[in-house]
Amino acid sequence: MKILRLQYRNFMGYKLVQLPGIKENFPEGLILISGPNSHGKSTIVEGILYAFFGSRAFPGKKTEDFINYGEHEAEIYLYFELDNEKYYLHRKWNRSKKKSKQLFKYNLTSKKYREIPQFDIKDFFEITRNQALSTIFVKQGEVEKLSSMKGAEIREMILQLFQLDIIDKALKSLEDERKDREVKKDLLLKKRIPIERIEEDIKELKEKVEEDQKKFKNNEKDINNLKAKLQELPSAELFRQLETFYNEVESSQDKLTSFIKRYDVTLLEKGLNPEEFDSINKIQVKFDKKNEDLSKLEEEKKVLKEKYERINRGLSKPQGRISVSQKQLQRIQTELKFSSTETITCPLCESELTHDHYEQLLAKLNGNIVKDNQKVQNITKVLDKLRIDIDNYDTNIKKFTSELNVIENAKNDKEHIIAYEKEFEKNKSQLTNFLDANKKRFKHIELKREAIRLKSLKVERLTTELNGLENKIIELQQNINDYRDKVDEKEKELMKMRQLHEQIGDLEVDLIHIGKVRELVRRFVTEYMVTKRLVKNIARVTEKYIRNFTLGQYGKLMIDLEGSRKTGLSLKIKDHFNGVNESVEMISGGDRTALGIALRLAISELMKTTRPTKNSPIKYPKMDFLLLDEPLAALDENRRKRILSYLLNSKNFPQIFLITHTEIPKELQVHQIIVAKDASTGISRAHFEKSAPIEF
Ligand SMILES: Nc1ncnc2c1ncn2[C@@H]1O[C@H](COP(=O)(O)OP(=O)(O)O)[C@@H](O)[C@H]1O
Ligand SMILES: [Mg+2]
Repeated sequence: MKILRLQYRNFMGYKLVQLPGIKENFPEGLILISGPNSHGKSTIVEGILYAFFGSRAFPGKKTEDFINYGEHEAEIYLYFELDNEKYYLHRKWNRSKKKSKQLFKYNLTSKKYREIPQFDIKDFFEITRNQALSTIFVKQGEVEKLSSMKGAEIREMILQLFQLDIIDKALKSLEDERKDREVKKDLLLKKRIPIERIEEDIKELKEKVEEDQKKFKNNEKDINNLKAKLQELPSAELFRQLETFYNEVESSQDKLTSFIKRYDVTLLEKGLNPEEFDSINKIQVKFDKKNEDLSKLEEEKKVLKEKYERINRGLSKPQGRISVSQKQLQRIQTELKFSSTETITCPLCESELTHDHYEQLLAKLNGNIVKDNQKVQNITKVLDKLRIDIDNYDTNIKKFTSELNVIENAKNDKEHIIAYEKEFEKNKSQLTNFLDANKKRFKHIELKREAIRLKSLKVERLTTELNGLENKIIELQQNINDYRDKVDEKEKELMKMRQLHEQIGDLEVDLIHIGKVRELVRRFVTEYMVTKRLVKNIARVTEKYIRNFTLGQYGKLMIDLEGSRKTGLSLKIKDHFNGVNESVEMISGGDRTALGIALRLAISELMKTTRPTKNSPIKYPKMDFLLLDEPLAALDENRRKRILSYLLNSKNFPQIFLITHTEIPKELQVHQIIVAKDASTGISRAHFEKSAPIEF
């Protein structure tokens, strides 16, 4: 990677600076930034860092700190070349916290820069800010600090720089993994039920199933036997029907006999000859005869009665006459008062009446009365006789009527008896028909009520027994199903438990593996990476630099590999002049600085190619230029010259920006950015001076 051009506006001490110049590009190799103290040298380098990483590259500083005092807004353009492509970064920010960051890429065909939208520095350069800062940038004073660092500090720095703290991180993440597995395992252990216990449960349940299945089979056999038995016997229903038929026969028979008995008793009571009443026909004949006799009697009575009426009517004549005569007599006697000779008018005939006449009249009237009375007496005698006859008839009619009633009742009774006989016969034939129809079923049964009753009871008992067995068998089936369901459940549980045991096993294996990996990381990786490989490499590269910087006085950097984390590494350096291994603390300040630069350069150089682990892919960092802020300050001119000329010729870095405020040896032909400051305004200025060709 190469920085081509930069342009700052209102960036710290600068109002406007454009380097190396309009439409010019920085060359490769070493570029010095020189000028007096506080004139804006560091600012040039800080601008480059700011362009890439913003104010975050400077812990403790805010964006406003980078804007020129009295200005509101600042802006940086940084042009660079990467993998043969050209880009520029543009940052603009102001005191109102507004800021923008854009990356543009040069398009060869359109010959224009086009913005790469939504770019991310880390993704684009494939390096973190911290890594980049510790790789490409050597801060002011850092070299001195490095050269006087204690072994332990160097070790920590190396670990961090080379991201070897990922081993600590790896250990921590392994520890997290281990804890996670432990927690999971504990959780599973809590859920664990011993497999043997479930297996025992299953065995027990299966035994129960078997037992009940046996019972089921026996029960089935019993049921079949019972059914066979019942098959041969009439069903309870048939028995019930038979019973009904029997009952009907019996009750009709009872009714019949009791009626016959009553009939006989009635005949006996009425003094009737049973023989004459043993058939409807005979009774009918008797009834007809009696009825005829009765009619005759009534006819005769009727004749007599008419006669009587007639005669009775004849009685009224003489009786009337008597009554008239008596009235006349009475009138005459009361109304005719004779005074001996006198004549009087007859009240009856209105004629003159004499006493004699009167006498005659009385006699005549009395004579009539007697005569008529006689007549009345005669008629009454006849009537009385007739009355007696009629009464006799009435008595006979009454007698006949009651006899006729008796016969009629007997006839009715007899008709009932015949009906009952018919019913009885009908019931009997129904019974026989029924028995005929079910002959097979009833074949072994004595057709006697008691026997039938007993058999029927037996059927009932067997049926009850069968029902009981059938219920029992349903219950057994239910139990078997339940047990089987439980077995299924238990088997599922067993499977789950087996899985759980497996999972626990897997977790245990994981835990063992994690333990082993941790051991490996701790023992092997750390040791190998830090003490054997990396430290050796650092020592090797540092040696290369130090030998060059000291004209071969020092070489053979010895880094004590035994250093623990606490004691760190111990640095010893071999003085080739006296052949003594000197502890770093013993060598001069200048030499220590040289060693610091060598160490720092070695680190930067190695950072480009060192992988954290053997399997990590080799990645050449895209940011491979070097920014060195006054590393040479503490060196004498000789050393400075050595280092400068080494850096000038070094091909390890494509571009090195090196700040120095000290004089540059005249014989060194170096590109320079010369920084100056306007004394009256305090504004920094800078310009680029290309070196003349260098000759060595
Ligand atoms: N925001 C700023 N506005 C104006 N001048 C600034 C600002 N920040 C720093 N300066 C000036 O920049 C100078 C420091 O520049 P620097 O690059 O560190 O000098 P050096 O050449 O010693 O490396 C100081 O004089 C300081 O006053
Ligand atoms: Mg400075």
